[in-house]
Amino acid sequence: MRIVDVINRKKRGEILNREEIDFVVQGYTKGEIPDYQMSAFLMAVYFKGMNKEEIANLTLAYVNSGERVDLSRIQGIKVDKHSSGGVGDKLSLAIIPICASVGIPVAKMSGRGLGHTGGTIDKLESIEGFRTELTNEEFISNVNKYKIAIVGQSPNLTPADKKIYALRDVTATVDSIPLIASSIMSKKIASGAECIVLDVKVGSGAFMKSVDEAVELARTMVDIGKSLGRKTIAVVTDMNQPLGHEVGNANEVREVIEILRGKGSEDETTIALTIASHMAVLGEVFADFDTAYKELHNILKSGKAVEKFKEFVMIQGGNPELIDYPDRLPQAKYHIEIKSSSNAYVSSINAEDIGVAAMLLGAGRRTKDDKIDFSAGITMVKKVGDKVNTGDTICVLHTNYENHSDAEAVARGAFYFSDNKPEPIKYIYDVIK
Ligand code: URA
Repeated sequence: MRIVDVINRKKRGEILNREEIDFVVQGYTKGEIPDYQMSAFLMAVYFKGMNKEEIANLTLAYVNSGERVDLSRIQGIKVDKHSSGGVGDKLSLAIIPICASVGIPVAKMSGRGLGHTGGTIDKLESIEGFRTELTNEEFISNVNKYKIAIVGQSPNLTPADKKIYALRDVTATVDSIPLIASSIMSKKIASGAECIVLDVKVGSGAFMKSVDEAVELARTMVDIGKSLGRKTIAVVTDMNQPLGHEVGNANEVREVIEILRGKGSEDETTIALTIASHMAVLGEVFADFDTAYKELHNILKSGKAVEKFKEFVMIQGGNPELIDYPDRLPQAKYHIEIKSSSNAYVSSINAEDIGVAAMLLGAGRRTKDDKIDFSAGITMVKKVGDKVNTGDTICVLHTNYENHSDAEAVARGAFYFSDNKPEPIKYIYDVIK
């Protein structure tokens, strides 16, 4: 087989078979296919797409390029969740303790943030002492005993996806639905989940900018799950403004504690309970979604979920007192209030710009080797639909950098105003089963 022939076939929009897809993925991972030919192949996929079978085969090729996590020693139905990434998206940290509180085993591998989006592992590391590396034994035994463990992703998981993602990033081929869907699903499948609930974000802070595209991505991932024997549900949720009120690692942990105490913002509480309820139904803890939602809401109000989070922090080496006293989590030296210069309604907030501003304050990485300042971030005081008067604070920047003028300009520019009250933003657009 010659790579040039496979590229040609895809360029003409032909359907590739499993052997051809394996040949491309294995050849590139082993260094036998050079970047320039792989780039041409990715661009052909970008323009011509792939059918369901090709996408499932691409996903399997990624999975087979590395190790598969064996969760067979964990009792119960293993349910995983994944978010396609957003700004202020801290919901994994809320959803997992909610699920663990009702006995759903969640053995989660999470990533770090890059660019304008944050990563669950970075957020957890803002808790003093928290260990995101556990031995395999600890990982399995914690899930069996406490129903919860979160670790950084093993470097041996889906190495083909890692190498291809890096190439996509520099060849303008990230935003292709077959490529995103296979990339995300391969990591979920390699990390051993039996059932998967996906939070597909749509809006200014997400890969998918329109609801139609997000629904297509959601359907594609649900189809991959189905063809590879994993029960999969996708919830399409809003990312047209940051989630909740806090962006930045320690800030977001503080907000997670509020959600788990039953005092979270409406958008975050609704989305967290929706995803956790689908997980609870797939995990066969509740018979239907409505019962699950009601019971999990009660779990939040009862204080059980925040206690579970505290226990989880303690068993992974973190200081549990920080959950009772979240103000002791890292705090920045400077707090800069950005004020409104008009009397108006907030009509939209560009979530990506807020993510970029947070990164400029030290909360994120420009390159994967950058160090993160856990205390840096942004508090969104005003959100879409809020009325503001001249001089009202719309957001507060938290940083240790003395010079923060770039971030200030980007954060200010993220807010748009109008004289008329905008239509309320939906939290959830669709659920694909
Ligand atoms: N997240 C992934 O893991 N892969 C993609 O391609 C896009 C988002």
